[in-house]
This record gives sequence, C-alpha cells and structure tokens, in this order.
Amino acid sequence: MQRVEVAIPAGSGHSYEILVGVELPHGVADQILERVSAARWAVISDSNVGPLYADALADALRAQGEVAECITVPAGEETKNRDTVAKIQDQLIDLGYGRDSCLVAVGGGVVGDVAGFVAATLFRGIPCVQVPTTLLAMVDSSVGGKTGIDTPAGKNLVGAFHQPVRVLIDVLALGSLPAAELTSGLAEVIKYGVILDADLFKKIDESLVDAGIAHCKADLEGVVARCCALKADVTAADEREANYRQVLNFGHTVAHGIETTLGYRIRHGEAVAIGMVAEARLAHRLVNAPEDLSARIAALCERVGLPTRLPEGCRPEDVVAAAAKDKKVRAGQLRCALPADIGTMAQGPDGYGIAVDSADLLAVLR
Ligand SMILES: NC(=O)c1ccc[n+]([C@@H]2O[C@H](COP(=O)([O-])OP(=O)(O)OC[C@H]3O[C@@H](n4cnc5c(N)ncnc54)[C@H](O)[C@@H]3O)[C@@H](O)[C@H]2O)c1
Ligand SMILES: [Zn+2]
Repeated sequence: MQRVEVAIPAGSGHSYEILVGVELPHGVADQILERVSAARWAVISDSNVGPLYADALADALRAQGEVAECITVPAGEETKNRDTVAKIQDQLIDLGYGRDSCLVAVGGGVVGDVAGFVAATLFRGIPCVQVPTTLLAMVDSSVGGKTGIDTPAGKNLVGAFHQPVRVLIDVLALGSLPAAELTSGLAEVIKYGVILDADLFKKIDESLVDAGIAHCKADLEGVVARCCALKADVTAADEREANYRQVLNFGHTVAHGIETTLGYRIRHGEAVAIGMVAEARLAHRLVNAPEDLSARIAALCERVGLPTRLPEGCRPEDVVAAAAKDKKVRAGQLRCALPADIGTMAQGPDGYGIAVDSADLLAVLR
C-alpha cells in the first residue's frame, strides 16, 4: 500500500491521507472505519458503479455493525446538476441523517464532485471519503478539494472547496472501466509528467505503455500514487489557485475550447491530449520551449491511443473563440499554463498563467 499525505495549511481546511492499494470492498471499509467515526454512512454512487462496488461497500460497512445506505444516481455528466444534489440532500434528511454522518463517494469524477458538494453543503458541511473508480478520478478529481456541479450556463459553475477526510484507491477497480475511459484518464497522467515530473513521463513511455497499462498493478499503483503526490503538493501550496495551481491547467485552455465547440461530445482526456499538443507548440513560440516538445507529447499520446489533432468538424476559429470566453480568461486576457520543457513550467510576468494572443493560439491550432 502507498500513502500520500496532502498537507493543507492550517486555517484553510484539514490535511488528509490518500491510500493507494486498498481493496474494495473490505479493505476500504476497514480503512474508513479505522480513521473516521460517524453515526451513519451514506455511500453515494452511480448506476454503473453501484452494482459493481458501492453496494458491496455498504454491505461491508453494515457487516461491521454500522448504519449504511447506498444512494445511486444515474451515470453520466447530465447527473451533475442541482436537481441531483437536492434529491440526495432530501433523501438523506428523510432517512434521518444528521451532522454526525459521513458520505462515501464511490465512482468517477461525476459522483465525486456531486457527493463532495452535497457533503460541503449539507448541515453546513459533513465529512466525505472519496473512493475514486476511474483513472481520471484517481489521479485528479478526488484529490484537491474542488467539488461542484454544472448549470445550464456551463460546467462546474456552482461549487465549493471541501477537502475529503480520506481518499482510498483500489486500482483493480480500473479492470471494469471501459477502455476508452482508461485511455482518457491517461491524458491527465501524461500531463503530470509534462508539467512536473520528467521521470514520470519517461516511465509512462518506457514501461507502462509497453506492459499494457491495465495489466501491471504494481506499476499502476506507483503511477497513480505519484500523480496524487504531485497534485497534493500543488494543492497544498496553492489550494485556491492564486498562482501555482494553474500549472494543472496545462492543455486545458484549448481542451475547454474544444469541449465547448463540440458540445462535450468528446471525452475530457481526449480534449486535453489535443490541448497539450497545441499548447506545447505555443510554449515553443512564447516561452522558448524546445521545438520538439510538442512532437514528444504527441508521440506518447498517440502511443496510448489519444487523439492529437482537432477532430473533423471542429474549426480552430471556434475553439479560440470558445477558449476566449472560458472562465480562465482573466481581465479579458486569454491565458495558458505552458511548459518550459518536459517536467518544468514556465513563469511569465504574472506567474504561471501566461498571456496568449488569440492569433498565436489560432496559428498553433491550424
Ligand atoms: N473536482 C475536480 O478537481 C475535478 C477534476 C477533474 C475532473 N472533474 C470532473 O470529473 C468528471 C469526469 O469524471 P470521470 O471521467 O471519472 O467520469 P464519470 O464519473 O462520468 O465516469 C465515467 C464512466 O465510467 C463509469 N465508471 C466509473 N468507474 C467505473 C468502473 N470502475 N468500472 C466501470 N465503469 C465505471 C461511470 O459510471 C461513467 O459511466 C467531470 O464532471 C469533471 O468536471 C473534477
Ligand atoms: Zn482535466
């Protein structure tokens, strides 16, 4: 088992542990009960993950004499809305849950964001344990304390910072994940390598891909733990994204432009892969990154099966226009977090968010 400490500075939340290599359901139940005490547990999950893991976790908690219910929401991003939050909150109140309850989010980023937001708001905040079951949720969304939902106007517009009390990861749960979801999650893993860890980038390139990612548990645990540690460091240094946390946005300015243009008919990781390749080209233009940086990232993305070019019907002009409207535009200025090379990020006059001209972005997308 690998342990990663997320050290949140005193005053802005609590520190907590991420454990990688805990087995669902019994190992997870044991780890929850060892560290968190609650009068009642609500395991929140979706229609795919519920029957696979969450029901069994609620059973395992009940087998230890605990009061536990499983609440299952429909799978998919459409569920990440106010209505779902209200339904879960009302159901918990009706069932008699109170301030001494704890939520356990079992699922991908959708479940984690919804359950985390319910936990942040119900009774002015109750604890939440995150048990991520997609690669994206393991290396990204379950760590860092951002929770929230979508509104008709856009994604993640309503939310709260609410750090989990523990994050418990069983990489074997990835065995049931559709291959395209696993590949999509790999984009975020590659991103960590590019922004913060050249050795990780090399490791993905040399060992993980060749061995077949889903088949090497030990390697996979190591990689997931490393990504969590990297996100934990960044989050601890800058929980509210004042400056340093922006490094995590590499590839994402373009990715959000693509997602908006396509009405989210593309997986997030796929958009991020295309975004990283384009933004690495920008990095060569704007912050003197090596000319082959983009090609190196593209080669690795292609090896794992990620796209690296704008899909058919996605026009560069539209992507730039959508990116320019994105919430990461500060004071009317388009910004990107850009690598200086594999493993290091560039800083501009305003920190890690580098000002980018629409014309430059358009040029690299073409
Ligand atoms: N809070 C954050 O910091 C943060 C960061 C990144 C992304 N996000 C959010 O995360 C969400 C995307 O998360 P995601 O990619 O995990 O998608 P998801 O939660 O929709 O899961 C993808 C699909 O896989 C299924 N699934 C999950 N685990 C499974 C398993 N082990 N076996 C079989 N099926 C499984 C789900 O039911 C779903 O159909 C987005 O809403 C995004 O905004 C949040
Ligand atoms: Zn992302």
